[in-house]
Amino acid sequence: MSDAPAIDAERVIADLRELARRTSDEAGAQRLCWAEGWRSARDFLRELLAEIGLEPEIDEAGNAWVYLAGAREPALAVGSHLDSVPGGGWLDGALGVMGALGAVRAWAESGVQPPRTVALVDWADEEGARFGRSLFGSSAAAGTFDPAELANARDAEGRLAPGVLAENGVELDRALDSRSRLGRLGAYLELHIEQGPVLEAEGIKAAAVSGCVGVERLRFEITGQVSHAGTTPMEARHDAGLAAAAAALRIEGIAIEQRGVATVGEMDFEPGIPTAVAGRASMVVDLRNRSTEALARMLESTREAVSACAAERGCEVSEEPVWRIEPIAFDPELVADARDACEEVAGTAYELPSGALHDAASMAPHVPTAMVFSPSIAGVSHAPEEDTAEPDLIAAIEAFGALTNSRITTAS
Ligand code: HGY
Ligand code: MN
Ligand code: MN
Repeated sequence: MSDAPAIDAERVIADLRELARRTSDEAGAQRLCWAEGWRSARDFLRELLAEIGLEPEIDEAGNAWVYLAGAREPALAVGSHLDSVPGGGWLDGALGVMGALGAVRAWAESGVQPPRTVALVDWADEEGARFGRSLFGSSAAAGTFDPAELANARDAEGRLAPGVLAENGVELDRALDSRSRLGRLGAYLELHIEQGPVLEAEGIKAAAVSGCVGVERLRFEITGQVSHAGTTPMEARHDAGLAAAAAALRIEGIAIEQRGVATVGEMDFEPGIPTAVAGRASMVVDLRNRSTEALARMLESTREAVSACAAERGCEVSEEPVWRIEPIAFDPELVADARDACEEVAGTAYELPSGALHDAASMAPHVPTAMVFSPSIAGVSHAPEEDTAEPDLIAAIEAFGALTNSRITTAS
């Protein structure tokens, strides 16, 4: 059906700029999930949907669903996430939601019933920036979330996750009921920025994504002895802070050795004052690798490094899991369709794995899934400098539109 209505990329970009105007400040995007900026983003999405006579249904995990009825089902799901990291960029997640809305809008405004129902979804709390557990809404909808993971999780202000979710109409223990929608879906497509340097370096405007790396994310608590920073002899110290710092640097080396990536983005000391040796240190380690085996080696070496750095200073160590996901490959046939769409629109047939995690990783074990990436300028993301050149945005949005139309109009 070559006369399928084309996506209006300029309109999608205008919507993204308005979203940024409404929900960002000088420090970047402020759409931290379950907070005011994210609720404003949801209000804006509701406004845009109302323009085409549609309104979202919120499921038990806080995901927003919109169905444009087609001649048959299963439905094609298209979406991403409106939530951002604090001080994030204007495109991470939002590009996929507004791009999906652009695809739905094209059909709605055409007045032609799509041959297949299209389900637009804005996933709740993809980032996990507040409680550490990424892909919350999509993993609940996929049935792979365990409410115990968040039952005692606290945000930076010490607020417990169940109470924060309840303020937003989500009852943690019922989040898994959102699984009921999975049965209506026949495939899932997501448009996203690469958030890395590869496509820019290769001069690629739009690319297919072959899958996502695996993640091991865990919190280590190191316990030493608080003491005076000036009077305690070095050999008498049990410095939990320096044990954590030393371990973090060893973890950096482990990642390089295993051809993966790792960082310690969160580290807190107690009492956390310049004149006291830290008696306690908490650090969250994020390990990633495309290979399951290499990721397992990274995890084992990380545990050994933390234990050794603590023992060298007479400190104790405990750990708790924060989140993990296996490396996942997307559907080869759908990835090939995404490559074809990128080649048709942007002139390049290219595919790459994603170093970032996406809601597509939650969907991939359950329905055929694929993604389209646009380049990221200087590979920067999760920062206010995050950006993509407009011609590249247009190419990726139009490639995504061609891909969604190819799936909406295929009989199978
Ligand atoms: O951490 C990630 O990969 C994603 O951006 N939440
Ligand atoms: Mn994202
Ligand atoms: Mn992100």
